[in-house]
Amino acid sequence: MLHFSYNFTHAICRLPARSLVDGLRAVDTGQPNYDQFLKDHQDYVAALEATGAKVEVLDALEEFPDSVFIEDAALCLPKCAVIMRPGAPSRLGEASAINPVISDVYSNVAVINGPGFIEGGDVLTTETEILVGRSARTDSAGIDELTSLVKPWGYTVREVETPEGVLHFKTDCSLLDADTILSTKRLANSGCFSDYQVIHVADGEEACANSIRFNENVIMPSNFPETEKMLVKHGYDVKTIGNTEAAKLDGGMSCLSLRFTPS
Ligand code: GLY
Repeated sequence: MLHFSYNFTHAICRLPARSLVDGLRAVDTGQPNYDQFLKDHQDYVAALEATGAKVEVLDALEEFPDSVFIEDAALCLPKCAVIMRPGAPSRLGEASAINPVISDVYSNVAVINGPGFIEGGDVLTTETEILVGRSARTDSAGIDELTSLVKPWGYTVREVETPEGVLHFKTDCSLLDADTILSTKRLANSGCFSDYQVIHVADGEEACANSIRFNENVIMPSNFPETEKMLVKHGYDVKTIGNTEAAKLDGGMSCLSLRFTPS
């Protein structure tokens, strides 16, 4: 049985720009190394392709240092796509840049026009609902606009809270299958996943909560051995990808792609 929330035939990625050294970050943990970032990005694209998906890799956008984190600029659903409105001023233009690419593959494209803000990293799509975490980048007005735009297509949006100090809702969680979420304890403790089974990331491994289920694989960052063992024990087919450089810019596995099946 196919599940629209994690079975995908296509993905879109964007090559890292050399300007990524100027990318946004909450805490300075050192400059990302471009060559290592590029290698990890190639491994990531290869991991998506290995599941049989067609992956389009867009040119780098030097004017937008964070544009490799392409997920924040759009939301791809089975029946429509929505161009987001990033809350970070330096990222606002990424939405206009992705619009023609998305319009090439979707016949129904809606746009968040504001005044609210919403970034894709705050959106977790499950089989039954779209959870959106309010954060420093996503506000209630942005969530309300998304709710109105997707309602005609039959999608339900639930507004939830991103933990204080956490960049995006999905920094702290990932969908593993139709019923199961991988989450940090700090996020799961809010009760937002009470309708799901939750697997907590291992203590001290919170940074791997941003993983993705992509077709048969769970793709997670390397070097989180306890959580990896736990997922394998639960029967997931885990692939790991280096993420040290993206992590310096608060980026992870979900941020690096838009995943979808054209309708
Ligand atoms: N560096 C990714 C972001 O802050 O949006």
